[in-house]
Amino acid sequence: MRTNQTKTVSPEESARQAANCDEVRRLLPEKKYVYIRTFGCQQNEADSERMAWLCEKMGYEKCDEPERAKLILVNTCAVREHAEKKALSIIGQYKHVKDADPDVVIGVGGCMVTQGHRADKLKNSYPYVSFVFDTGSLHKLPELVLGAIKGAPRRIESCGGEFIIPEGVGAKSETPHSAWLSIMYGCNNFCSYCIVPYARGRERSRAPEAVLDEAKTLIANGAREITLLGQNVNSYGNDADLDCTFAELVRRVCSLDGDFRVRFMTSHPKDVTDELIEVFATEEKMIKHFHLPLQSGSNEILRKMNRRYDMERYLTVVEKLKSAVPDVSLTSDIIVGFPGETDADFEATMDALRAVRYDMIFSFIYSPRVGTPAAEMDGQIPHDVSTARFERMINMQNDISRERNERFVGRTVRALVTEVSRTDEAMLTGRSDSPRPIHFAGDAALIGDFADVKITRADTFSLIGEIENK
Ligand code: 5AD
Ligand code: SF4
Repeated sequence: MRTNQTKTVSPEESARQAANCDEVRRLLPEKKYVYIRTFGCQQNEADSERMAWLCEKMGYEKCDEPERAKLILVNTCAVREHAEKKALSIIGQYKHVKDADPDVVIGVGGCMVTQGHRADKLKNSYPYVSFVFDTGSLHKLPELVLGAIKGAPRRIESCGGEFIIPEGVGAKSETPHSAWLSIMYGCNNFCSYCIVPYARGRERSRAPEAVLDEAKTLIANGAREITLLGQNVNSYGNDADLDCTFAELVRRVCSLDGDFRVRFMTSHPKDVTDELIEVFATEEKMIKHFHLPLQSGSNEILRKMNRRYDMERYLTVVEKLKSAVPDVSLTSDIIVGFPGETDADFEATMDALRAVRYDMIFSFIYSPRVGTPAAEMDGQIPHDVSTARFERMINMQNDISRERNERFVGRTVRALVTEVSRTDEAMLTGRSDSPRPIHFAGDAALIGDFADVKITRADTFSLIGEIENK
């Protein structure tokens, strides 16, 4: 182990950005709105909450319509081409907002712009974008906004590969009951298909004290569910001399006072330890849902993906989890159509899904990413082949999911009430140990609290229930 050399935001830099916030407030004293559009994963959601926090310091209130905003921020994703195309098309749509009001400032950040060719495209083809900032430059947002307001030349801000730990930048959440807590940033794994290590840099672990302090603040602010976030939470601390494993960190978070639950993501199967499985099984505050991305059921494809485990190792972890927590809810990420995937490789993935019986999977058609090794591999799979495999897989998994969901019928579960149902305004939505949303009738005043819900029906994608208390 070596001492963590990663820089955090220095006190001088924090003071500079705080002064920039004050200057924005002074220049634009009237009520003003920011619209933030987020693409991608939970890390991006957490980053957008940091952007919202900085915007609040600059005097912006959040709004839901870009047309009302004086500041529009787009937080992009680069994991698949589809997400990039969608972000570019949305950014294209904001041109009319800028045309209607030339004072509107538009900034684009996130993983997509960390790739040089995408930053260049934004610079050349989207002249109404005021600034671009990569994931390592998020803390400079006040400086970028101030520059744009003052009419400074457009900026393409890059950390130049010097990714930091954004300690000192807070988070403003719309849903304080369900909080993200980043415990580390970046990834060292270089799975051959994945852009993340390039877009977010190498692993940087936060000090356990910083994580615990933030957890205490979140709990004091009403957090009922805390999700510990990292690209590979199991390697927490490996980059630094922290004297605290991930399992120990989870134990310490669970030991804090308060009525809250804990989950974590994402776990890399090669790094799941017996210690972590024990903490997962024994800590009462742990939500008994384990996300364990398999990616492929074929050892040959796993090798080409540089995943560094085989099916035997993966299934050993699954068996340990199932024997430690017999009712565990398992979920996974699966990529279909990786270069060189044969029919037999794909069938091995189908066999794996039948063997594990996940509650739910997140499935993706392989998308070549510029600069990753897989994009250069022979045997790229035609789209129609991938699509046909993808559909077969979804159909089979949907049957498994529905069967898995059935086990909850008749049980009373403790659910966190998270929101009014998106499909039926008369219903509420909540979450328990199942990764599936639970819908039930109830008063919106319950949002942010726990409720006992008796499950009366299970569908493929959701559970239906009735509230038993309150
Ligand atoms: N193509 C398709 N899916 C990908 N993922 C990551 N990179 C790619 C890619 N190039 C998926 C993986 C990962 C999830 C977050 O996104 O399954 O676990
Ligand atoms: Fe990407 Fe692999 Fe890192 Fe996950 S573990 S972020 S899939 S490189």
